[in-house]
Amino acid sequence: MKTTDIQHLDTFTSDILDGLRQNPKRLPSKYFYDAEGDKLFQQIMRMPEYYLTDAEYEIMEMHKDSILKSIGCQAFDLVELGAGDGYKTKVLLQYLLEQNVDVRYCPIDISKHVLQQLETSLQNDLPELAFNCLQGDYFDMLNELHYRSEVPKIILFLGANIGNMRPPDAQAFLKEIQKNMSHNDRLIVGFDLKKDPQIILDAYNDPAGITAAFNLNILTRINKELGANFNIDLFKHWEIYNPLTGAAKSYIISKIDQDVFIPDANQVISFTAWETIEVELSQKYSLADIDVLAHKSGLTTINRLRDHKKYFVDIIFQKS
Ligand code: AVJ
Repeated sequence: MKTTDIQHLDTFTSDILDGLRQNPKRLPSKYFYDAEGDKLFQQIMRMPEYYLTDAEYEIMEMHKDSILKSIGCQAFDLVELGAGDGYKTKVLLQYLLEQNVDVRYCPIDISKHVLQQLETSLQNDLPELAFNCLQGDYFDMLNELHYRSEVPKIILFLGANIGNMRPPDAQAFLKEIQKNMSHNDRLIVGFDLKKDPQIILDAYNDPAGITAAFNLNILTRINKELGANFNIDLFKHWEIYNPLTGAAKSYIISKIDQDVFIPDANQVISFTAWETIEVELSQKYSLADIDVLAHKSGLTTINRLRDHKKYFVDIIFQKS
């Protein structure tokens, strides 16, 4: 088989190929979110085992006044990284409008499809809201923060999206954001907290198999977009949680020895029985872990908001 020069392929193709050629194999979790993946993730957010969404919703609902006080001004741009369906943010937006705050909402997300839905739902649910949607991944997002505006920027990074980064990458990412902040700006980050390991495992390994379907959908996406022939039935989802490091990791495991052909890249990928593909990290933090992370990123905590079960925390930071 001739070797394809991955330089000439588009980013999706080269990221996928690059990951599948590594040892151990890995695939970037940002590629979960095609139209089917978006649907499955919506289902995950409604599962009883996936406590994260409810916990952060409760925080927004219970502490909206405290959030506005910590923001400390009445006119600002609210920039949201990885906005998704805006379910939790709308609680805050509704409150800001009721308080006559002069807010402009700037949601940014990797999924075009999700942003279109968000746009429609904002027009219906909050018709008075000024907003401006942007599509891109986290690194494009950072560039979006360079813009200068007359009003302070409040940057939201909710939903434990930061958990998809390894802690050193999370630190570098927060540092980049911090560099683009001025003194009146605020950064609000949602972290999933360390807790009973069984609760965490259940959230990522539900009995109905929705999480399994969500993870395996990345193979279906590769079939659809690159013409590959992954047989989904010959792979299984596997979740582990390490209470020491706080890392919850999702794997896709090959059940048998098999070759998969990716015609668009002219590549054969070989799997031995029980070989793994690492697909997602969902990092959990203690409050002390977050303090260290914040300190190394040049951020000072000005408010810390938890749900009543203490499963989740939203931290409001300012530049140190
Ligand atoms: C959207 C990245 C926060 O890691 O909890 C949910 C994605 N993966 N179930 C998470 C996810 C499996 C989710 N984030």
